[in-house]
Amino acid sequence: MRYFNTAGPIRQKDHYCLNPLKRINLKEILSLIEQKKYFVLHAPRQTGKTSCLLALMEYLNNQTNFKCLYINVEAAQGARENVKRGVKAILNELGSRSKFHLKDSYIDKIWTETLERSGEDGALNEVLSRWTEGSQKPIVLFIDEIDSLIGDTLISVLRQIRAGYDKRPENFPQSIILCGVRDVRDYRIHSDRDKSIITGGSAFNIKAVSLRLGDFLESEVYELLEEHTKETGQKFDVKAKELIWHYTQGQPWLVNALAYQTCFETAAKRDKILQKELITEEMVIDAKEALILRRETHLDQLADKLREERVRRVIEPIITGKMVTADIPEDDVQYLTDLGLIKRKPSIVISNPIYMEIIPRMLTSTTQDSISHKTLWYVKPDGSIDMKKIISEFQEFFRENSESWVERFAYKEAGPQLLMQAFLQRVINSGGRIEREYGTIKQKGRNR
Ligand SMILES: Nc1ncnc2c1ncn2[C@@H]1O[C@H](COP(=O)(O)OP(=O)(O)OP(=O)(O)O)[C@@H](O)[C@H]1O
Ligand SMILES: [Mg+2]
Repeated sequence: MRYFNTAGPIRQKDHYCLNPLKRINLKEILSLIEQKKYFVLHAPRQTGKTSCLLALMEYLNNQTNFKCLYINVEAAQGARENVKRGVKAILNELGSRSKFHLKDSYIDKIWTETLERSGEDGALNEVLSRWTEGSQKPIVLFIDEIDSLIGDTLISVLRQIRAGYDKRPENFPQSIILCGVRDVRDYRIHSDRDKSIITGGSAFNIKAVSLRLGDFLESEVYELLEEHTKETGQKFDVKAKELIWHYTQGQPWLVNALAYQTCFETAAKRDKILQKELITEEMVIDAKEALILRRETHLDQLADKLREERVRRVIEPIITGKMVTADIPEDDVQYLTDLGLIKRKPSIVISNPIYMEIIPRMLTSTTQDSISHKTLWYVKPDGSIDMKKIISEFQEFFRENSESWVERFAYKEAGPQLLMQAFLQRVINSGGRIEREYGTIKQKGRNR
């Protein structure tokens, strides 16, 4: 049985999925390849970049014109600024992937000796030249995770590719796609050797265009959910589908994670599949809560970014509601857009309701943990929530604690809002206990 995938690239055989080639502008990409262009494909984390590149490699290799290879240079990340170790890891990846995907062991045979002879600043260029020269078809190369390389290693790789550019297609790849989170042009690379900052744009000034892979459209989210219904017969209520779209705004990993959590996470849920029980809005709401509390890597990666000063400069005014676009450096806004944290249309907003909920939670998690809590004082005897009491308790709590608490937040400007968020979150988090003791709370779900 297939399922919603939340770990790595999709495999059509194992996972519900949209055709990756329909998510990119295939015509445009093929035309760029025909024109021997070198270009960039970028998108935030877990958007489907690798899935698209792997599908495109398969597509091109099934056609007759090109020989296409996908490599992932993440292994060179550990080498940091050590160019020799970095280039060695990349050559090794080229060798093993070409054996695996193309059954071609040429690179594997020559790379060690080439590294020895040409040195780390020439070996990648030399290996690609010799490989292309010996190939009957022009080569198309995809380099994934390019921004996992840093400093002089990244500069060396970009320069070696640039140095071979004029030899294409006979002696160098006809087309190269660099894939990562950011556009290469926007990299600011610190060179230890040159003791200076080099921009990606200058190290790789041969780039033709940058393509950005978008999130799923609303119709694509429904199409993906429909895969589950087709496979199992279990249907989604219309409202449940709409809510999955609303919470995720089509962020591919979030859609899959929320749908997985809703349909598959527990044995009880898997039983419901067998009984073809309708998936309701309530089930999606509960799954969303659970997903947020679980702090999966995707969400943790975002939380990590909140510590960066340039991220704070944009997020803080959004939280305080004092967003004055003109005051925020364009570079910072672009950076957060590339990370997928914000969207700019029509105005700058956090990308989707799940991130919107996660961000203040992350920023206040220590505060939440340390608020001493008498959980049940705000519940009326009939089980409903006493809002008046909550508000007056908060006022008192704020008067007593605000100065010392607010000082603790890195996001000082947004301190009062975050303090309130922490307080309310604490109330919500104890909801489970209230439910057990008082039965279902009336104000459940979206209103709670
Ligand atoms: N075609 C697709 N159909 C359905 N879900 C997809 C598709 N492509 C990607 N996804 C979802 O996105 C997740 C990440 O996919 P993939 O690893 O291809 O993205 P990525 O952008 O390369 O991620 P990373 O930034 O981590 O390298 C998958 O686990 C899946 O949840
Ligand atoms: Mg990837």
